[in-house]
Amino acid sequence: MTTPLTPVLSAFWDADRSWTLETYEKHGGYAALRKALAMPASDVLNTVKDSAIRGRGGAGFPAGLKWSFMSPPDGGPRYLVVNADESEPGTCKDIPLMLANPHALIEGAAISQYAMGSDHAFIYLRGEVVHVYRRLLRAVEEATAAGYLGTDVLGTGITLRVTPHAGAGAYICGEETALLDSLEGRRGQPRLKPPFPGAAGLYARPTSVNNVETIASVPGIILEGSDWFKSMGTEKSTGFGIFSLSGHVTNPGQFEAPLGITMRELIDLAGGIRKGHRIKFWTPGGSSTPIFTEAHLDIPLDFDSVAAAGSMLGTRALQVFDETVSVVRAVSRWTDFYAHESCGKCTPCREGTYWLKQIMERLEHGQGLPGDIEKLDDICSNILGRSFCALGDAATSPIASAIKYFREEFEAGMHTPAATLFPPAASVLFDAKEAATA
Ligand SMILES: Cc1cc2nc3c(=O)[nH]c(=O)nc-3n(C[C@H](O)[C@H](O)[C@H](O)COP(=O)(O)O)c2cc1C
Ligand code: SF4
Repeated sequence: MTTPLTPVLSAFWDADRSWTLETYEKHGGYAALRKALAMPASDVLNTVKDSAIRGRGGAGFPAGLKWSFMSPPDGGPRYLVVNADESEPGTCKDIPLMLANPHALIEGAAISQYAMGSDHAFIYLRGEVVHVYRRLLRAVEEATAAGYLGTDVLGTGITLRVTPHAGAGAYICGEETALLDSLEGRRGQPRLKPPFPGAAGLYARPTSVNNVETIASVPGIILEGSDWFKSMGTEKSTGFGIFSLSGHVTNPGQFEAPLGITMRELIDLAGGIRKGHRIKFWTPGGSSTPIFTEAHLDIPLDFDSVAAAGSMLGTRALQVFDETVSVVRAVSRWTDFYAHESCGKCTPCREGTYWLKQIMERLEHGQGLPGDIEKLDDICSNILGRSFCALGDAATSPIASAIKYFREEFEAGMHTPAATLFPPAASVLFDAKEAATA
């Protein structure tokens, strides 16, 4: 097989001290910023718009369009806020990207600010990843000392600033309006929309919230052009993206490839399913996207094809589970997560996730009651579309899709514990004793 990989953001992750400004410049870093600042800001925005890049944070909204929807400049502040909260179970692309190549994000943030008429970007980072926070702080320091950030960027008189901010580690703070509340120092809970952030976002000023990978893709688009970007991917899902394979594959990791690649191709690139086993189910975009099975391996992983097949591309967090795994147990863990992370603002999600957790626990322990599967269905349909934000919907996705494809395992939960049907030891990837002595 010819490799379908398109390493752009990950092109030199394996270089010596890949995260330093020196390495980034050696690989052409900050040439895109120089090029952008020599162009009118509107041309920069139009190039991004023309590339048709869709947001890499999950929903897939076109980035250039989002920027052009911001209220027009009125002389007051406008902000770019980079969403680096990355807390979705299975999602692990932004954190490795910021760790290995933080300057791609800093350069992207500088260019994007310029395009949208802003002079200040915040990077809202998941609180637990202190090592990435330090790396971002250092990268901003380096970029400022080199004149790529500051009040007179590259002698142009233009001001561009980047402020990394560490959150406190709540999944809901990845939801863009909860993130803005948290950044303002309030409790992180979603805001009522409208007004949308483009009209009244951070400190009630026009704001664009964009994912790390979206913004880090901007330098390439400016340097190589929108046609280059569109030469990869599909017509409606242009460009490349980082696909994160985890779980029961031989070589889990990040694979940067054009959108539209299939899961079968990606599993091949990851060395196949672990030896002696076969795939049972997988998530196309993290735990909040309905699960897929072996029957879905040839679906092109682009926004529209995945949606047409009944799931979502989400964050391309491809978690692979082989036949040793109990679907009920896996879904039960995800349900615990959503119940724990529900912010409590709205009743369907606050109460519903608590009920879902109780029923999933019963089924996992072989103590399900007659009518529990119907009750799960009923609670899911009362949460879906009736919650204040998408976290509620997300909590229903794994449950509803697992019942659809593996109903018999839920029925077995009426009498037999999941651990009896699928002994957890068979799914273990790392021997704890071996790991401790390695
Ligand atoms: C509960 C919840 C968590 C989210 N977490 C993230 C996150 O960690 N990172 C992210 O970029 N988007 C996250 N999103 C999506 C954001 O609300 C928003 O759509 C995204 O940051 C927009 O960036 P993009 O247009 O570049 O994709 C989350 C949404 C919800 C509902
Ligand atoms: S859906 Fe859940 S997380 Fe979202 S506002 Fe309601 S309670 Fe909070």
